[in-house]
Amino acid sequence: MNIPFKKIAVCHGPTCGPNGAKKLKQILEETYADNGIEITTRECCGKCSNHNSIVVDDTMTVSNLDEESIKKFIADPDAMIEGAKKEEGELSKKIDELLSSEDFTLS
Ligand code: FES
Repeated sequence: MNIPFKKIAVCHGPTCGPNGAKKLKQILEETYADNGIEITTRECCGKCSNHNSIVVDDTMTVSNLDEESIKKFIADPDAMIEGAKKEEGELSKKIDELLSSEDFTLS
């Protein structure tokens, strides 16, 4: 099994917590029990509208997870992490465009 990370923090914030975070953590713990991967919990990671979320190696948030998609993450974590990076890059680009537009003013 190719595991490109050392730890995962499962978000247990106010949106993720009541929507299946405990089950996601259980699946991750069962999957990686013998691989030395640290599975922990954390507070809200700021992606509530895309719950549920996990944070991989303290650097990358992967969202929109449920019991089915966490299995996809386990099967191909590189693809899910790359998808999350791409989404984050697109969002950052949109924010930069908005902030640099002539229509944007702080009041
Ligand atoms: S509660 Fe999980 S991202 Fe906010």
